[in-house]
Amino acid sequence: MKKPSAVILALATLVVSQTAFAFEKGDILVRGGLATVSPNESSSNIIAGSDLGVNVGVGNNTQLGLNFAYFMTDNINIEVLAATPFKHDVNFGLPNPLDTGNQLAEVTHLPPTISVNYYFDTGNSVLKPYAGVGLNYTLFFDEQFTSQNAAIGLQDLSLDNSFGLAAQLGADYMVDEEWFVNASIRWIDIDTEASFNLNGAQGSIESIEIDPWVYTVAVGYRF
Ligand code: NI
Repeated sequence: MKKPSAVILALATLVVSQTAFAFEKGDILVRGGLATVSPNESSSNIIAGSDLGVNVGVGNNTQLGLNFAYFMTDNINIEVLAATPFKHDVNFGLPNPLDTGNQLAEVTHLPPTISVNYYFDTGNSVLKPYAGVGLNYTLFFDEQFTSQNAAIGLQDLSLDNSFGLAAQLGADYMVDEEWFVNASIRWIDIDTEASFNLNGAQGSIESIEIDPWVYTVAVGYRF
């Protein structure tokens, strides 16, 4: 039989560890890791004088993701997603009638997103799943046709910035009281329109729905 003091010590340890892993109002989380933007795209056809009869696809890209969250209550936080700029290949939906290779262009974007997340559990568990909804603003810049496409007179590519909804599921896994690992999957509604010039005539792609899945794995620290 254990001595009473040993039982008290065990109970005290249990109480400490129960509060130790729980997130609390006022906590700040900082997460850093890798974010992959995987477009789930569809687009209208390229119009350059006439309908070229081909649309475009958008490739994947992985960048450094940074993420800050502040707990308004014990189980609701506000989170800001930031990242280094994503660079995506824009490819012809084959076949390319212009005979300039598979790739049409390269575009760069930043997709800052602000989300509200709800944590399902406020207790001692080390695994903390959450779901969130948010708003995204995607800023496109440095849009460039490939040199083969520039050589036939395509220039001045520009993509409209996008404002839309985002939703995510994620989980933090506490390694100790401060450090944790995180994984999340996020969907962002990113819709844009491209305009360009072909030998002086205005061209466009009226609708490009990028609507990517964003996969993130990160290491986090709780302040
Ligand atoms: Ni969309």
